Amino acid sequence: MNFSVIGLQWGDEGKGKIVDYISGNCAAVVRFNGGSNAGHTVVKDGKKYVFHLLPSGAARGKEMILASGVVVDPIILSEEIGKVFGKILIDSRCSVVTPYDKKLDEIIEEKRGSLALGTTRRGIGPSYAMRALRLEPRVCDILANDFNFEALATFYDMMHINGNLQEWIEYSRNVLKGIEGDSGARVVELNEKGEEVVFEGSQGSLLDIMHGSYPYVTSSHTLSTYIPLSLGLSKDIIGDTIGVMKCYATRVGSGPFPSEEKGVLAEEIRRIGNEYGATTGRARRIGWLDFVSLKYAVRMNGVKEVAITKVDVLSKIRQLKICRSYSVDGEEISDFFKAIPRLDDAKAELEEMDSLHGYDFSIGMKGALKKLIELIEEELKVSVRLVSYGEERSETFELSR
Ligand code: IMP
Ligand code: MG
Repeated sequence: MNFSVIGLQWGDEGKGKIVDYISGNCAAVVRFNGGSNAGHTVVKDGKKYVFHLLPSGAARGKEMILASGVVVDPIILSEEIGKVFGKILIDSRCSVVTPYDKKLDEIIEEKRGSLALGTTRRGIGPSYAMRALRLEPRVCDILANDFNFEALATFYDMMHINGNLQEWIEYSRNVLKGIEGDSGARVVELNEKGEEVVFEGSQGSLLDIMHGSYPYVTSSHTLSTYIPLSLGLSKDIIGDTIGVMKCYATRVGSGPFPSEEKGVLAEEIRRIGNEYGATTGRARRIGWLDFVSLKYAVRMNGVKEVAITKVDVLSKIRQLKICRSYSVDGEEISDFFKAIPRLDDAKAELEEMDSLHGYDFSIGMKGALKKLIELIEEELKVSVRLVSYGEERSETFELSR
């Protein structure tokens, strides 16, 4: 049975570690959205591996598949290919991020000024946009060597972005040659042989371009329902979805963040949790566990089981707060959908919980930790399957089903 791992917040929930932990029996790890804007961190034997484009199963020698909803940057791909052993399959229908896209990403961000989204500047948004305009080359177009780049070049020329792509095309062809194919067919083939695969979400549910905190979102779909579309298969392929949530919240880049905490406490959490972007190195903004947005994310992804990450961070701070409703212009709102048009003005109503300060994880799950897990199960109507309290695989509690 296949399964998927999806972030329930704004990305950086610790999906990399969870995928690593539960994909032991899987034949392949599949990415289905985004591009090199992701930063998947896996720690193995004390060594840290960060992948931006390849799925995090890369660290374990698994087969790595990029489905057609991913936008592929051949330069980053080439760098990462050099670091892994497993087999790689890139769907022929993936759009290819061009050097123009990266320039446009930067220019748009600069022109937005104080309203900048804080993108990763990896050209991801422009690449999806060019695909929607039917100007972007796909992997198969680069390989076929008969793509007409003129329309794309003319379009970019209007924005004074130009340059000869010839060298880049040659380079890209060399990188992509021999690893392209049909991602959906490969997944079906593996399943028919009795092998299972894991679908690894990138970014988080609240960054989904349609259902997230638009316009402060990424440019692809981050939800489990994008998996079948990206593979070109029917919905049955997804299997169960495991939602990953950090026991506090972070957000990198601009945009509304109702449960945001600022000041000394936020700095402390950032330092202890090492909350710096794996792709851009930016300091992540810090907030508290927000059940309003989590309920929305759980529903959108059909999540029944969750993995909670980074509870060790809570054991090193003296306070623990959670949020079950927002106040928006004096009105109390506990349905994220209703808050969406007014998210900028939404302030979390914070409740103080028993702190986990000094918690000794060798005793298992007791006291304040048990209470927190029970609250999560009750509020989200899910079962907690994994609780992670450190970077290493061994630092994980597995709850029986
Ligand atoms: P873009 O995806 O580079 O266009 O950036 C759009 C927004 O998504 C920005 O706020 C980024 O910081 C955020 N973002 C993109 N990828 C990730 C990720 O992997 N983790 C967390 N935030 C991300
Ligand atoms: Mg990340």
